[in-house]
Amino acid sequence: MRIDISNAQINVEVKGRGQPVLLVHGFPFDHRMWSHQFAELGQRVQVIAPDLRGYGTSSALREPTSIARFAEELMEVLDRLPVESPADLCGLSMGGYIALQLVHRWPDRFRRLVLCHTRSAADSVETARGRRLAIEQIRRRGPADFLAAMAEKLIAPSTASNSPEKRAEMMQWLAEASPESLVHTLDALATRPDATPWLGSLPLPVLVVAGNEDGITPAAEMREMAEKIPQARFIALPDCGHLSPLERPGEFNAQVLQFLTSD
Ligand code: MLT
Repeated sequence: MRIDISNAQINVEVKGRGQPVLLVHGFPFDHRMWSHQFAELGQRVQVIAPDLRGYGTSSALREPTSIARFAEELMEVLDRLPVESPADLCGLSMGGYIALQLVHRWPDRFRRLVLCHTRSAADSVETARGRRLAIEQIRRRGPADFLAAMAEKLIAPSTASNSPEKRAEMMQWLAEASPESLVHTLDALATRPDATPWLGSLPLPVLVVAGNEDGITPAAEMREMAEKIPQARFIALPDCGHLSPLERPGEFNAQVLQFLTSD
């Protein structure tokens, strides 16, 4: 379904009925990142999986944006959908940065939060510098080298060797990312605020999902983040890199459903 928001159309995949859960994809993917969740989660809850602006079939991203702006756009989407409030929320990596913005700014609109492979901290000086170099590289030579380097870090080596079809699926998603969206989003990532001061006052139950082989958001760092959240439960999935919904869908779906449907 397509939802009109200010100056853009957002593509949203909606599956199932019941308690709504907004799934926010990571960078530089789109709603298909949750392909292995739709059927299973959709049997128990209502899955709402948008393409962020600039991704999938949502409107193009032609100007600078921010993590806060992505959050505002998702809030507009939620306001226009006929769904119950408060909704549940699940964000992966960049989707987690956006989810933290959403619960910080609109705490009454969310009931439970799942944070996957993400962090509350802003970019270090070094990471932000790396993003600026990547922007230059994409502008000069196109996105192929940047995406190839990113692909190496996203899934665990065991996933890549045992499940080549999952790697192929991920490569297909990466190949479809628009260079313009990559550039604007890299800038948004580099300039996002530190959400760590918000953790201690998060007013809702939070499930923190890490992967034991995640080299982008290491499990130890995610455990430390979980320890700062009053109502958090931390899990680390074995043989899993940065993309548990793709790499370990069985465990991921079971853990998320248990968390969302328990009293
Ligand atoms: C993501 O998966 O969304 C990215 O790794 C986020 C980031 O680069 O900070």
